[in-house]
Amino acid sequence: MARHLITSAIPYINGIKHLGNLVGSQLPADLYARYQRTRGHEVLFLCATDEHGTPAELAAAKAGEPVAEYCARMHGVQTEIAKGFRLSFDHFGRSSSPQNHRLTQHFAGRLAEAGMIREVVEKQVYSNADKRFLPDRYIEGICPNCGYDKARGDQCENCTKQLDPTDLIEPRSAISGSTDLEVRETKHLYLGQSGMRGRLNDWIDSKGDWPVLTTSIARKWLNDGDGLQDRGITRDLDWGIPVKKGADDWPGMEGKVFYVWFDAPIEYIACAGEWAEAQGLSEGEWERWWRTDKGADDVRYTQFMGKDNVPFHTLSFPATILGSGEDWKLVDYIKSFNYLNYDGGQFSTSQGRGVFMDQALEILPADYWRWWLLSHAPESSDSEFTWENFQVSVNKDLADVLGNFVSRVTKFCRSKFGEEVPGGGGFGAREEALIATLTERVRAYEGHMEAMEVRKSAQELRAIWVAGNEYLQEAAPWSTFKEDPEAAAAQIRLALNLIRLYAVLSAPFIPDASEAMLAAMKTDDSGWPNDVAAALGALPEGHDFQVPEVLFAKISDEGREDWQERFSGVRDG
Ligand code: MF3
Ligand code: ZN
Repeated sequence: MARHLITSAIPYINGIKHLGNLVGSQLPADLYARYQRTRGHEVLFLCATDEHGTPAELAAAKAGEPVAEYCARMHGVQTEIAKGFRLSFDHFGRSSSPQNHRLTQHFAGRLAEAGMIREVVEKQVYSNADKRFLPDRYIEGICPNCGYDKARGDQCENCTKQLDPTDLIEPRSAISGSTDLEVRETKHLYLGQSGMRGRLNDWIDSKGDWPVLTTSIARKWLNDGDGLQDRGITRDLDWGIPVKKGADDWPGMEGKVFYVWFDAPIEYIACAGEWAEAQGLSEGEWERWWRTDKGADDVRYTQFMGKDNVPFHTLSFPATILGSGEDWKLVDYIKSFNYLNYDGGQFSTSQGRGVFMDQALEILPADYWRWWLLSHAPESSDSEFTWENFQVSVNKDLADVLGNFVSRVTKFCRSKFGEEVPGGGGFGAREEALIATLTERVRAYEGHMEAMEVRKSAQELRAIWVAGNEYLQEAAPWSTFKEDPEAAAAQIRLALNLIRLYAVLSAPFIPDASEAMLAAMKTDDSGWPNDVAAALGALPEGHDFQVPEVLFAKISDEGREDWQERFSGVRDG
C-alpha cells in the first residue's frame, strides 16, 4: 500500500468558481484521489480557500460585510458546492486558519535566520480617500501609449503595454475613483529566491517524467532573467497574516501582512494540521504526511493546478521550503492544465461569463458535468465548452452507451428470468474474447489513470463500456433465448456482472451513477478487477438485483437551446 498526498490549487475565496477553474485543478485531483483510494492506497486529499489579498477585501466591502465574516460565509458556500460536485476532499481548509498563521510566520522566521530575507524601502501609491496603499492594479488612468482611459497601473488592457503606476496620466484609485493620491515610502520584506536558481534548476532537471506543460513553464521562468527575481512577500493591508518571525514581532513591520502568494501554498501544509485537528488526531498524524524526518519520505505528493499557477509551485514555494532548511516534503509530481474556453471566448469571473459551479448543479447532476469536463480536460492544449458538444457527449457516452446497457440488460433479465442473476452454462468463445479485450483495456485504463492522463483514461473507460454493448449486440440474448434459454441465461449473467464491473471502474469519474449501479446490483463488492474473469463472476446465480431508475436522461435540442440562451450573457458579480 502506497501513501498519496494530493492537493488541488486552493480557489480564491471571492465568488463562486466557473467550470474552467474546476477542470483545471479540483476535479482532476478528485479523479486521481478517488482512483488511488479504490486501488486500496492511503490517500490524504486536501484543498482550501485562498482567503487573503485585496480582491477578498474588496469583495467583502462590496457585499457590505466585515472581511472575516465574508470569508467565513463564502467558505461555507464553496464547501457546499464542492460537496455538490462530489469533490472528496479529506479536508477543505482555510488559508486564514490559526495553523496557517503559525506556519507562515514560522517559515518567515526560518528564512530570515537563513539570511534569505532582506528589508527594502519602496515608494508606493497611497490613497488618502481610501486610507490605504493601492496595489498597482487598483490604480487606473490614461495609458501613455494608446490613450485608453481605463488602463491599470500594471498593464494597459487595450494595447497590452506593461506599465508602472507612475506612467499613468491622471491616475485615480480604482476603488473609490479618488485622485487624491500620493507616493509614500514603505518598508517591505523581499525573499531572496534569485540565489536559489541553481538548486531549483537541478531539482526541475531531475523531474524528467513531469508533463511538458509544467516543465516548460518552470524552465521559461527560471531561465528568463526576471523569472526568479527577489520578490516582495509583504503588503500594507489589514487583512492577512501579520508579519512576524515565528512567534516574535518583526520590528519595523508592524501593521503589515504577508503577501497572499506567500501564505497560500503554505496552507497546503497547514491544511493537514486543520485536518488532524478536525479528526481529533495528534500533531504527529499530519506530520507523517509532510515531514520527511517524521515518516513522510515514503509519501508520494502530487499537485494539480492551472498553468497560470505553475511558476508559484515550481519556483516560489519550493524556494520557501528549501530555504527553510527543514525537512519538509517537496512535491513529487505537478499535473498542470491549459484553459477551458466557453463558447468562442474565455470563461471570466470578473465579467461573469460562462457557467459557474452553482449554476451547473442547478441544471444537471454532478456526474454529467464531471464526465464532460474530464473527458475534455484541457491537457495538451486549451479546449472549449460548447453546449452542442456537451449535449452530444452526454447523450452518446452516458445515455446511449452506459445508461442504455444497464437498462437493456436489467429489463431483459427481469422479463425473462426475474430479478435475480440467472444460471445457464459456462462461457464460450465470444465470452472469452470479451474477457480478453476487457483485460487488456482495464490494464490500459490503470496505466492512464496512474499517469494522470485524464482524457486517455476517459477514452479507455468509454471503450470498456462500448465493448459490453458490442458483446450484447452480437450475443443478442433476446434471439438466443428463443432457441437456447440456457445460453441466453449465461450471456445475461455475464452482462449483469459487467454492470458491477462498470460501476467499479467508473466510480472515479461518475461516483453517483456508480453508486446507483452497485445499489441496483444489490452489492457492496466494489473490489477492483485485478482479475477480470474472476470479477465477472462476482454476482453468482440467484443473486438479487433490481432494475434501476434511468441513469442518465438525454438532453433535448430544446433544453440545450434554453441553456445556450440563458448562459449567453453575463451574470452579476
Ligand atoms: N488562489 C489561486 C488561484 O486560484 C491558487 C493558489 S494555489 C496555492 O489561482 F498554492 F497558492 F495555494
Ligand atoms: Zn494602452
